[in-house]
Amino acid sequence: MSKQLEKIKQLIAKREEARLGGGEKAIEKQHARGKYTARERIDMLLDEGSFEEFDMFKLHRCTNFGMEKKQFLGDGVVAGSGTIDGRLVYIFAQDFTVNGGSLSETMAQKICKVMDMGMKMGAPVIGINDSGGARIQEGINALAGYAEIFERNILASGVIPQISGIFGPCAGGSVYSPALTDFTLMMENTSYMFLTGPKVVKTVTGEDIDQEHLGGASVHSTKSGVTHFTAATEEEAMEMIKTLLSYIPSNNMEEAPRKECTDPINRMEDSLNDIIPDDPNMAYDMYKVIGAIVDNGEFFEVQPKFAKNIIVGFARFNGQSVGVVANQPSCYAGVLDVNASRKGARFVRFCDAFNIPIVSLVDVPGFLPGTGQEYNAVILHGAKLLYAYGEATVPKITVTLRKSYGGSHIVMGCKQLRTDLNYAWPSAEIAVMGASGAVSVLCAKEAKTHEDPKAFLAEKEEEYTEMFANPYQAAKYGYIDDVIEPRNTRFRICRGLAQLATKRDNLPAKKHGNIPM
Ligand code: HXC
Repeated sequence: MSKQLEKIKQLIAKREEARLGGGEKAIEKQHARGKYTARERIDMLLDEGSFEEFDMFKLHRCTNFGMEKKQFLGDGVVAGSGTIDGRLVYIFAQDFTVNGGSLSETMAQKICKVMDMGMKMGAPVIGINDSGGARIQEGINALAGYAEIFERNILASGVIPQISGIFGPCAGGSVYSPALTDFTLMMENTSYMFLTGPKVVKTVTGEDIDQEHLGGASVHSTKSGVTHFTAATEEEAMEMIKTLLSYIPSNNMEEAPRKECTDPINRMEDSLNDIIPDDPNMAYDMYKVIGAIVDNGEFFEVQPKFAKNIIVGFARFNGQSVGVVANQPSCYAGVLDVNASRKGARFVRFCDAFNIPIVSLVDVPGFLPGTGQEYNAVILHGAKLLYAYGEATVPKITVTLRKSYGGSHIVMGCKQLRTDLNYAWPSAEIAVMGASGAVSVLCAKEAKTHEDPKAFLAEKEEEYTEMFANPYQAAKYGYIDDVIEPRNTRFRICRGLAQLATKRDNLPAKKHGNIPM
């Protein structure tokens, strides 16, 4: 065999060794936990044969605690580029079979390299996390590695989409990289995220809690809102990431990919003419409205289990990707509260950063009152949603279906927040507050002078309802551009989006705004 062939043989052997990560035993252990390896995950996500790996032969430089004997080619992360549906992405997947995927200085360098490439090429970066956190033996170098990653997450924010999959442990400071990215997906039952684990919690606070109840997918998808998506299997998780990418552009200079539309844009949806109950206190399901108006009824919801009183997610109108924000009357009457405001604001900002028009469907009775909300800074969180809408320069269309009262009317994309097209259904009630509240403020004193105060107040309520609980007061002043027939909503939104396609709007020159937190 020639020297050259000998060297090629060595290369092939080295590649095979690197592909085994922490070795066959560790791979078996990973599989026994119901988890795939880093390389298997990358293969599942990327277009077949598209993966171009970087730094397969990179090694860590640590010699503390006998680490020189724990060397694995490529160290604990697999990184590189590939395509999804033919579009370029950069990806890294932490390899739990190598020192528990714990983050070394060299691993951080590999991750930073793909992030830098993503920024240069204007391509999304996807990170699959499965790691025991900072590599303890490396001390401060591991911490510095995290900080390098975080800084890149921050600089890339709003430039390229960043998606984090949590496919195993994600503890300590390592939670901050996913938290800085745009979307997080957690595996049900096999992943968790927390700053301090159950043992530390027990020591510091005395609280007995297991990993799942402290930071499992069930907690972060419902209570904290830390994760946007959950999946029962890794296959399902990869499909969700692909679907998400199909709705968003590769960077902030591009538009989202357009899909051929097979759903007629002038499709009348008669069911909508009959969806608002006669009783204003009766609920209806906003999902039915969304399903009826978007292309083929396809809606990709974000944070479906968190703050269900507001619905956010991606859909298409005439093949164009949009962000839908909608109050949900069948959950707490669609009221806005701390969590709904946080959820809505973050989504609106993502859409605005990435040139995705925002369609808002409004039926909101107001902000939730009470100490629970006030003590948790509903003022600031509500202001955050207001800020997000008012700052957004993408095409904005607001359709008011029923209630739109007071502060919540303003917050949910009213005309003065630079919304381009404001439509209302004939059932819309756009006013300072609901009839009973208004009458109790305006007429309480006078009611006492009447023989039958209750009857007097009821009469005044009717008068108020007649005067204000309609869309025409707002239409009279041009705050509503048109009152539309509900069944025609899809067409009006499609035509509106076509009209707004060339929209140009911007913000005054500034370093950055100071969004309420
Ligand atoms: C070095 C680690 C490690 C770590 C795991 N390993 N975590 N090595 N640094 N942080 C190694 C183990 O020693 C073991 O090596 C292998 O990975 C697999 O780990 P096991 O414990 O056998 O696996 P398992 O029982 O599944 O438990 C997984 C685990 C546990 C729950 C993640 O390993 C664990 O609690 N690790 C520490 C988690 C932690 O406290 N991280 C925070 C670090 S501080 P061998 O050679 O036996 O296979 C931090 C701060 C960052 O992250 C701040 C950034 C701003």
